[in-house]
This record gives sequence, C-alpha cells and structure tokens, in this order.
Amino acid sequence: MMEWLLGFSTLIAALYLLSRHFVSHESSTESPPAVPYLIPWLGSTLQFARDPVSFLERCRRRYGRIYRIVVAGSEIVVVADAASIAELERDVTKSLDKVDLVARAVRVVTGINIEGDQAVYEVMKNKIFPRIAKAFSQTAMTSHFLKEVDRELVAQLVKMGSSAPSTILNLLDVTARPLYCSTCIALFGPTFPYEDTYYDFKLLDSNFNQLNTGIPFVALNAVRARKHIFRSTVRFISSWWDGEGTQYIPGISELGLEWLQELKTHGLSKTQASTVLIFVLWGSQTNIWEMSFWLLHHLASDLSSQEKLREEANKFNERRGESDIDTSLTPLLNSAMTETLRWVSKTGIVRRVIKDMRVMVENQVVHISKESILYADVGAVHSDPTIYPHPDQFDINRFLSWDNSQHGAQPAPMAWGGGAHFVS
Ligand code: HEM
Repeated sequence: MMEWLLGFSTLIAALYLLSRHFVSHESSTESPPAVPYLIPWLGSTLQFARDPVSFLERCRRRYGRIYRIVVAGSEIVVVADAASIAELERDVTKSLDKVDLVARAVRVVTGINIEGDQAVYEVMKNKIFPRIAKAFSQTAMTSHFLKEVDRELVAQLVKMGSSAPSTILNLLDVTARPLYCSTCIALFGPTFPYEDTYYDFKLLDSNFNQLNTGIPFVALNAVRARKHIFRSTVRFISSWWDGEGTQYIPGISELGLEWLQELKTHGLSKTQASTVLIFVLWGSQTNIWEMSFWLLHHLASDLSSQEKLREEANKFNERRGESDIDTSLTPLLNSAMTETLRWVSKTGIVRRVIKDMRVMVENQVVHISKESILYADVGAVHSDPTIYPHPDQFDINRFLSWDNSQHGAQPAPMAWGGGAHFVS
C-alpha cells in the first residue's frame, strides 16, 4: 500500500512539474500568467465547468486582472479589468472575431455543427439578427409584435395563477415559463409546441456550461432534451417548408414568417433552418429568464421596494400615451433593471484572437497570442467594490443617481457585450 502511495505521489509530482514546464515554456514577461494544470488538454476544464464564477474569482485573486487558463484544449485569456474590457470591445485593431465561437454556441444549443457552413452564419448575421434588432429595440416597444408578447405574458400569468391557486410554484417557472410561452406564441402562433418544449429548453439552458466543454457523455439528459426540441421544431415547420412556402401557419407573426422566408430564400435546408430558429429562440430567452428571476427574487424579500415600484408603475400607466414609452418616467424601474444586470451578468464578449495583439491592463501592456480565446470576465468588474460599493448587496436604488460622467473610468454595468446591443 505504502509503495503504491509513493508511486502515485511521484507520478503526480512528475505530472505537475511537466505541466509547469508545459504551460510556462512560452511565457514572456509580457504574456499573461498561466494558471498551471496537471493534464494537458483537460487543463482547468473540470473546475471551470463545475463553478465558473468561483473558479475565476480564485484565479483573479492569485494571478491578477489578466491570466491564461486551458479549458477543453483551448487557451483562454481571461480579462477582468473594466478599462481593458472596454478597449477590447471597441477592437479598433480588428484582431478579434467570433464566427467559430458563435458556431460553437450553436452546436451546444442545437447539437448541429455549422462550423465552416458560411451560408448559415451569413443568413443569421445579415438577415435574422438585424430583424431581431428592429423587433426588440426600444423604439419597437409599442409595436404590434411586442404588444402581442405583452398580452400573452399577462394571459399566461393569469392562467398559471388561476389553475393552481394553492400550489407552491418554482420561481424560475413563474418567470421563465410565461416568458417562453408568450414569446413562442407571439412569434410563431399557438401551434408552436411551446408547452412541449419549455422544460427541454430549461434543461438545455441550465446545462450550457457542461455541454460547452464538449466532453462526451456529459449532461445526457440535456442532450436528450435538445434532440426533442429539434424534432419538435422540424415538425412544426415541415408542412410550410415542404410546400411552396405559402401554407398558412395560424397566428404566426410577420417577424416569424419573415425569418422562415429568409431562411428558405437563401437555400437553407429544413435542418439548417430549424437550427437557426432554435438558436435565436434560446438567445431571446436565456438572459431574460435569468434577469427576471433575480429581480423577482430580490423584490420578493424587499416589500418596501416592491411597493415603491408598484406606485411608480401605476403612475406611469396613468400618464403614458399609447404610442410612446418614456423611460424617464420610471427611474426606479430603470435602476432596478440596471442593478439586476450588474448583479447577474458574468460574461461580456467572448472572441477568437485572429492576430497577435496587445492590451493595456493596469498600465502594463500585455501580449495576447493569435488563436487564443478572449473571455471578458464582466462578473469580476461587476463585483469590484472600488466601482460598486458593497457589490454583494442588491441595491435597487444604486443607479437612481448614477451618472457616468461622475464616475470617470468606472463603468455602468457592461452586460451587453461588444458594440451597441439591440436589447439594451
Ligand atoms: C437581459 C437581457 C440580455 C442580455 C444581458 C444579453 C446579453 C448578450 C451578450 C453579452 C451578447 C454577446 C454580445 C457580443 O458577443 O458582443 C448577446 C448577443 C446576442 N443576443 Fe442578447 N442579451 C439579452 C437579451 C436578448 C434578447 C431579448 C434577444 C433576442 C430577442 C437577444 C439576442 C441576441 C443575439 C441574436 C445575439 C448575437 C448577436 C451577434 O452575435 O451579433 N438578446 N446578448
């Protein structure tokens, strides 16, 4: 037994020394420090997948505001400094790209590999995303489509309340389910299998990090859920798709129909079209679910803020016109939503570095090598006490009097990623 233990410890020590060599041989004074690991390719995958937020926090405390980790064979440069993240988001040297990373996210969500499939990416980027931008923008707040989402949302909430007056409901289901169902109905009409796919989407979403590691046989129940969503979506579009594209889909929105027409006109197959639809549907839900959940969670335990918000909403409803939504009339709601974004958002941009680049981190120029993945650790910025006093406290009033110009380099929450985000 003793011999076995000695042999095992020697093996671990040897692996550790080897890994130190492996991760440090290319280090220069300018490169970010590397987080050591034992097993090549695996690197820090397990710690990262288990609890990314705590893992990154430990790394930041130990290695500073920029460092390298290896996750599932990729070298990831994590940047946790507000000014550097803002500089990277501007990307003036055009050193960053996201095509293969969007493809990776699509594969995680749909199970379909679109890497190298330029047609799908181009249609999404040039035809589908801009249409979403228009439909979900602030100026579209009073559009027919968003009014439909709103109407359905109320109907779903009423249905949920009346069908189970004395049941204990899961808070995530209270927020996510009505949002999902109302978005699906407003987009694709009531024949879309929304009831059937809600729990699958929920399972898929909560296993995103595990699926993203790409390790085989991980999160098998989420893989099954993903297949089910896929089959249901293909079935839903089948008769329209297989016909001349003229068949009526009851209650489908103009936006939903435009998406289908774009996908078909650009020569995508039914599988490719379903891939795009599922990815967009997931994208429209995941962050909103999380934000709504945490906002409601905090309000549930803060009755006085709840009351103030209700008063503000009632006044707003009395004063607002039918055709304009003036957000200056809802300062407390704006502050509550911004605080939720600060409190919840952990990741900003994720990009592939396509040429060697430099970034300034705390007055030091740091070199980032081509082919690394860049990960903006926005969570670290959002929980920095020098920017947001008592960051662990959810303070609904925090942004009531927030003025960017008074905070110098201290940013408003950076929840939206690079560039102007259409839902911000
Ligand atoms: C609280 C709500 C939301 C947050 C915090 C959020 C955050 C983000 C972030 C961080 C990105 C990555 C941006 C980047 O890589 O530069 C992103 C991309 C995206 N989001 Fe959102 N989002 C939200 C709501 C939505 C909604 C409601 C929709 C659709 C209706 C949506 C659709 C998309 C799409 C299509 C992309 C990809 C854009 C691209 O690659 O060009 N998001 N979002």
